Amino acid sequence: MKVGFIGTGSMGSILIESLIQSGALQPEHMIASNRTFSKVELLEAKYPGFQAVQSNVQVAGDSDILFLCVKPKEFRQVAEEIKGAVCAEQIVVSITSPVQIKQLESVLKGKIAKIIPSITNYVCSGATLCIYGDRITPEDQILLERLLSNISLPIRVAEEYTRVSSDLSSCGPAFLAFFVQKFVDAAVEQTGIPREEAVRLAAEMVLGTGKLLTVGGFSPESLQKRVSVPGGITEEALHLLDVRLQGVFNELIETTHSKFFEDVDKVEAQFYAPK
Ligand SMILES: NC(=O)c1ccc[n+]([C@@H]2O[C@H](COP(=O)([O-])OP(=O)(O)OC[C@H]3O[C@@H](n4cnc5c(N)ncnc54)[C@H](OP(=O)(O)O)[C@@H]3O)[C@@H](O)[C@H]2O)c1
Repeated sequence: MKVGFIGTGSMGSILIESLIQSGALQPEHMIASNRTFSKVELLEAKYPGFQAVQSNVQVAGDSDILFLCVKPKEFRQVAEEIKGAVCAEQIVVSITSPVQIKQLESVLKGKIAKIIPSITNYVCSGATLCIYGDRITPEDQILLERLLSNISLPIRVAEEYTRVSSDLSSCGPAFLAFFVQKFVDAAVEQTGIPREEAVRLAAEMVLGTGKLLTVGGFSPESLQKRVSVPGGITEEALHLLDVRLQGVFNELIETTHSKFFEDVDKVEAQFYAPK
């Protein structure tokens, strides 16, 4: 089985490297292209056997599973370029949320899936969101999820929840890192604790909290309750957060969705524009 990647930027290279490093795929079973060729050449140099090629059409033609890891604005052009090389038996995976499965199905003959990875997959952790088109068989879904389970927990979501699921799963690491950064900044500023020490403590705390919420049997609510002694320090600080962050997360979701719908409109304009 050959797995191909068009686009080896941030997310394409994370997928490639984590699939190799987890032992899910041997480099000899992978082929990739990228607009700036030097980027994909670096992967070829790092992983002997990995095949870097100049042509997107060659990647499309040689792959049993083809990952399209370009940005929304580049999708139509890439889809048009490779459509002659994609046949009905191939699995084609888009990793970008605003491109709809029906749009890809309208251009490419392959079996279309949308898989939204997360930077957490780089350390073989976090979820990958799986959304499937009508052409993809249950066996194809199992094949893809078996591959992805080497680097993540594959979770099926309905296409209508792609954006909010991506907010939680793929944007979430940036949001949580922002929280950690602000928490550390304040700790350093107010107490003088060395920054590296504060970052280390906060990072270990995030790791442990993730474990409590996944395998530790806690929900977000029960965890807060367990840590807060009535009338104690944590309870008072949680009350402050509750008051000061009122409505912030609703606004956050409104913000991601409004940007998303802008991108959906732009992608739609590409797909319905005259060729
Ligand atoms: N970053 C994340 O955490 C994340 C998470 C989930 C999903 N995604 C989605 O993944 C997609 C890619 O995001 P990214 O962060 O990886 O972006 P990126 O770093 O900009 O990577 C996109 C890559 O596509 C290449 N490319 C563009 N046009 C091409 C073409 N015609 N032929 C071949 N390669 C081409 C670019 O090449 P150049 O080197 O020439 O620019 C670049 O390396 C986006 O749709 C994003 O929404 C990202």
